[in-house]
Amino acid sequence: MALYGADVVLLGKTRTKLEAVFDWIAEHSATQPVIVPCDLNFLNQDGAAALAEQVRAEFGRLDSLVHNASTLGPKTPIEHYPLAEWEAVTKVNLTAAVALTQALTPLLRETGQPQGAETSIVFTSSSVGRQGRAYWGAYAASKFAVEGLMQVLADELAHEGAIRVNSLNPGATRTAMRRLAYPGEDPAAVPPPEARLDLYLYLLSDAAKGVTGRALDARGWAGP
Ligand SMILES: NC(=O)c1ccc[n+]([C@@H]2O[C@H](COP(=O)([O-])OP(=O)(O)OC[C@H]3O[C@@H](n4cnc5c(N)ncnc54)[C@H](OP(=O)(O)O)[C@@H]3O)[C@@H](O)[C@H]2O)c1
Repeated sequence: MALYGADVVLLGKTRTKLEAVFDWIAEHSATQPVIVPCDLNFLNQDGAAALAEQVRAEFGRLDSLVHNASTLGPKTPIEHYPLAEWEAVTKVNLTAAVALTQALTPLLRETGQPQGAETSIVFTSSSVGRQGRAYWGAYAASKFAVEGLMQVLADELAHEGAIRVNSLNPGATRTAMRRLAYPGEDPAAVPPPEARLDLYLYLLSDAAKGVTGRALDARGWAGP
């Protein structure tokens, strides 16, 4: 997104990884990234509110919110799934996204409304959040819940016309999570994340004005 001119606020768990992305953006773009090291397992409403204040103080606006961070958890039959791990996966993949959405929606609304423009919320989903598959446990269930969250929020905000809300399945991409989920797979056979950027760019751009409540798929995305 920074390559396309966005000032990005990068939230992730590991400071060193965030710093590496910060350095890359600083070298390759003229935008101003901000990093926010934060373990979503421990994010509460106060923490989310503090982040919203930080964004307001730094930029005074927010054009888009992309929920991307997720954790896989164990691939285990439901019958044997450890409840503590179920709760941790649900916290990161679902509850933290709710907390961030609650805290940042007012800023998204304030940014879009005055000019009759729209801001955008994107939830990152998964194939197993649309069709359940054995052993995907809390990860799949949390992605189904994210789809529900997207639909409820889109419906709640539709009458304002200020914020569009959609979900996106990036499909198989060559990442750490993919390696964990499919250890026997040849990574070279899987497209890199940047190959799936088009749909994100569309949903964050004015071209998607009025598109809300949709569950979209980045695989084979050929435009609206
Ligand atoms: N890769 C695929 O094939 C695929 C397919 C379908 C959907 N997806 C979805 O695409 C999105 C990106 O996945 P990915 O494959 O890039 O996964 P990934 O390689 O595991 O990256 C996950 C990201 O989430 C962050 N994260 C995880 N736990 C966190 C926590 N407790 N607090 C804060 N940040 C946390 C990680 O930060 P750290 O690195 O610092 O831990 C990392 O930046 C996810 O929503 C995933 O469900 C991926």
